[in-house]
Amino acid sequence: MPLTVRRGAPSAVAMALWISGPGLAGPGAQGQGPEGCTSESCIAWQVGAFGVDPNGTGPLDCHGHGCAATGTGCHSECECRHLDVIERQRWDANAGFRYPKRPSLVITASRDGQHCASTWAFNAVRLLFRQAKESCDSYWMRHVTREKLQRRLVTGAHVVVKTHEWKGSVEAFEDLKKMLSHVVLSVREGFPREENWLKIATHVLHFEELVAYNKEDPEDVTQIGALTVLRKLAEHLGLRGLSAHDIRLVDYELMTLPMPKGSCNQTTKLWPFHSRRGGRPIPSAPPASP
Ligand SMILES: *[C@@H]1O[C@H](CO)[C@@H](O)[C@H](O)[C@H]1NC(C)=O
Ligand SMILES: *[C@@H]1O[C@H](CO)[C@@H](O)[C@H](O)[C@H]1NC(C)=O
Repeated sequence: MPLTVRRGAPSAVAMALWISGPGLAGPGAQGQGPEGCTSESCIAWQVGAFGVDPNGTGPLDCHGHGCAATGTGCHSECECRHLDVIERQRWDANAGFRYPKRPSLVITASRDGQHCASTWAFNAVRLLFRQAKESCDSYWMRHVTREKLQRRLVTGAHVVVKTHEWKGSVEAFEDLKKMLSHVVLSVREGFPREENWLKIATHVLHFEELVAYNKEDPEDVTQIGALTVLRKLAEHLGLRGLSAHDIRLVDYELMTLPMPKGSCNQTTKLWPFHSRRGGRPIPSAPPASP
């Protein structure tokens, strides 16, 4: 596996020594960089069950300046990591974020420009992991390749990648699909589907179900399709510990993600032209505590 990390990164041997016990690596599983590691980026290596995740300053982190992994500046199709402020709490031992024993590699796909809520699906995966306090890195990729995915798996966090049509060869697709744990495809009636990803989809998300709600009473939780869709998606991702309240919190967050002005928001992958087509009115308040 090509490990591309900054100077002072631990060797494969050091990483192996740091591998922690079974289950999710608990909070506080932090290590200092190995001997000779003096650069600032080595201050807090988070040691997951199976990876090394520098404290927000690693080769994948952008902060608007681009990252070493892509070698280019940040732009509208930036493929670097852009964690939100809560996701970044993973480096604070008290925040309770954990790393998975076996990271999931999730693709969320749709055909470009089909208004089938694929950006919703991408953020839903990201925020469900966040709500479950499981570290998850999220990315955009126009062209998905094995190498790019491998490079992003080194942090030991789950990885979710938003993409559109498959662009590579049949052989490359066959090879790639073995790496993936989940392929979530968004579809909408009357709109063309992405046939390649559809063939290997592990979960299909229907736009019509997502936007369903009781028009007489938009806050009637028994008829909010998004809640059912989120529950099924959480179960598909193996997140069985989320309560009904957790699901409602994620739904509220998704309903209230700010629409960016100007250009793409790199964390949410929302664009100024996105709108909640067919969706229900924005809830007046977050769900009350249970
Ligand atoms: C992560 O790094 C930032 C500065 O880069 C520092 O302020 C913060 O305390 C670090 N967090 C942890 C948990 O080490
Ligand atoms: C992008 O969206 C995230 C999540 O809502 C938000 O925290 C962040 O401030 C936004 N970024 C910009 C540059 O507006």
